Amino acid sequence: MRNLVADLRAITGPGHVITEPDVVAGYATDCTRRYSGVANCVVTPGSTAEVADVVRACSARGALIIPQGGNTGLVGGSIPAASSEGRAAVILSTRRLNGLEPVDRASGQVTAGAGVTIARLAAHAAWAGLRYGVDLGSRDSATVGGTIATNAGGIHTIRYGPTRSQVAGVTAVLADGSVVGNLSGLTASSSGYDLAHLLTGSEGTLAVITQARLLLRPAEPPAAVLLCGTAGIAEAAELTGLIRTAIPGLLAAEYVDDAGLALVRQAAGLPAPLPTGYQGYLLTEIAGTRDRNDADQVLEQLAGAGLSADSVLAQDARGMAALWAYRDRLTEAIATAGVPHKIDVAVPASGLAAFCAELDDVVRDAAEAGRAGAAGAGRESNAGGYPRLIVFGHVGVGNLHVNVLGPDPDDTQVDEAVARLAAAHGGSVAAEHGVGRAKTGWLGWTRPPAEISAMWAIKAALDPHGLLNPGVLLPPETATPPPETAT
Ligand code: FAD
Ligand code: MLT
Ligand code: ZN
Repeated sequence: MRNLVADLRAITGPGHVITEPDVVAGYATDCTRRYSGVANCVVTPGSTAEVADVVRACSARGALIIPQGGNTGLVGGSIPAASSEGRAAVILSTRRLNGLEPVDRASGQVTAGAGVTIARLAAHAAWAGLRYGVDLGSRDSATVGGTIATNAGGIHTIRYGPTRSQVAGVTAVLADGSVVGNLSGLTASSSGYDLAHLLTGSEGTLAVITQARLLLRPAEPPAAVLLCGTAGIAEAAELTGLIRTAIPGLLAAEYVDDAGLALVRQAAGLPAPLPTGYQGYLLTEIAGTRDRNDADQVLEQLAGAGLSADSVLAQDARGMAALWAYRDRLTEAIATAGVPHKIDVAVPASGLAAFCAELDDVVRDAAEAGRAGAAGAGRESNAGGYPRLIVFGHVGVGNLHVNVLGPDPDDTQVDEAVARLAAAHGGSVAAEHGVGRAKTGWLGWTRPPAEISAMWAIKAALDPHGLLNPGVLLPPETATPPPETAT
């Protein structure tokens, strides 16, 4: 190991390889506090050429490489395994890959280093009168490379699509140290396999992304934010459809249930948004594409349709920010109440009502089974009382974040039960956070064996010695059987 550290220091300079155990441990623990691993060092190369040399040095010594951006991932993908089975594990942090080129106005594109944060990219695009299509609550830390590697979604997916829809090209380093990719930004190209889009969503298992060529969008300043009380997720989804049909510029459609609203109000000291309480709340952001009365017209239409009992509309910056606070501060509010089980799933509109109807019972039964299992094994469970269920998310694209407080962080029964329910209703077990280490065993519930074999074949071709982020994304040999499909 000492030799590997010396090799890495020779490549990046001595100040860019961290070996102090306490500091390394910080990088090896993810932001949910549920996942942590063991690494020998953290290396922060400053260029694509240095990344290539680092990868070659690790490869020569059989060391595992864990690419890491902002470490805001929620499924344990950005941290090493608890044991590397005798091999060295190196966290490759992209923090110094932070170059940001001037916006190319002719193409409406920009080239950014993998370590550039989404907040910095957004501000850079705004200076040029443009906008980056992906925005998320972790914007101050989440990076271009991390969001590409997870195919991140976020609050504007309904308008611009996920990260995959923003990527025009990447530069990346393969496991043998070779550099691939293209930053020309040519969207008119049909010359073979599209490596940029293959690497999008690959979670550090195929290559280290070092730079990206990204599409920017015309700026669409929001003209209104509308918060409606609803009878639950299914009604919120229906209401979203109505708003989308009524007006052209729907930028966001987000859902927060009553438990989430209560938590965020308590943690952030916010007033009740509406005079009466509802089972759930739909928050929509509307672009000012026609005139500022658009939103008023929507309100009238909603009242006419009889779908919304109560709503509040903001058309000034302060009022809009005040309504967004109920959604933006939710993740942080939940974390103040414990270590949540965060299950990111997607369910098609046709399965939403049934999924929601079964969710409470499924969570309660799984939490109870977890408690019984702990007691049977003679372990003490921290999970006193009933589990607290909070559901929120990007309802406009069927992406729900089921959060459960109560069950022990190590107990995965609740996570599995919710994912099985989503799969049984035709959904996805990983909507926008990726598979990480948390969900590898569930991939086969929604991806057929032939597709998983094809993924393994790609992995074997690009990373034959399994050095890049092993244990992430691809399922282990003995995956649990799929759930029965709902009829
Ligand atoms: P990391 O967490 O460091 O890494 C994530 C994965 O990408 C790992 O597998 C890692 O190995 C790989 N990776 C990182 N960089 C590279 C690279 N350069 N090359 C190859 N692989 C790489 N996610 C959403 O999709 N939508 C949301 O709305 C959203 N909101 C969030 C809000 C909060 C408050 C928090 C804490 C998280 C949120 N997330 C959300 C999750 C998270 O921010 C995203 O998954 C994000 O894409 C991770 O980016 P990162 O730079 O932190 O990557
Ligand atoms: C969000 O939409 O807020 C995120 O995906 C973060 C989370 O799931 O907590
Ligand atoms: Zn989300």
